Amino acid sequence: MQAALAAAACVGLPPCAAQPPLSDTALLAATCATCHGPGGRPPAGGASIPALRGQHAARLLRRLQALQEHRDPSATVMPQLLQGLDEAQLRALAQWFSRPGPR
Ligand code: HEC
Repeated sequence: MQAALAAAACVGLPPCAAQPPLSDTALLAATCATCHGPGGRPPAGGASIPALRGQHAARLLRRLQALQEHRDPSATVMPQLLQGLDEAQLRALAQWFSRPGPR
């Protein structure tokens, strides 16, 4: 499936055929961009959605776990979105957004 996605994205673009397929974490993190912005930085004026990029991995992981386990009473969409992710995926996402990253 990953290969299929990479191949689909590469149609007509010869240089990208040589690139390695996106990692699972990159694909997962891309789904967060809808709200948290490309690369984990919400667009300016994106009011109530917190920036993820550059936060400490340990803090991000604690927040993800609290949200997933319904321990944050102010949460809205995140508890639902995190259902079905395992701890390894939460850790990988926390690491991913803690790095300086693209953009
Ligand atoms: C539908 C929009 C939406 C999507 C998609 C989304 N988020 Fe969120 N996120 C929010 C909102 C809104 C909050 C504030 C908490 C709440 O209301 O649930 C939040 C809060 C968070 C927080 C807490 C940040 C902090 O500083 O306390 C983390 C961490 C987080 N999201 C990670 C992610 C990750 C990782 C993904 C992708 C797997 C993701 N989010 C996808 C909307 C979204």
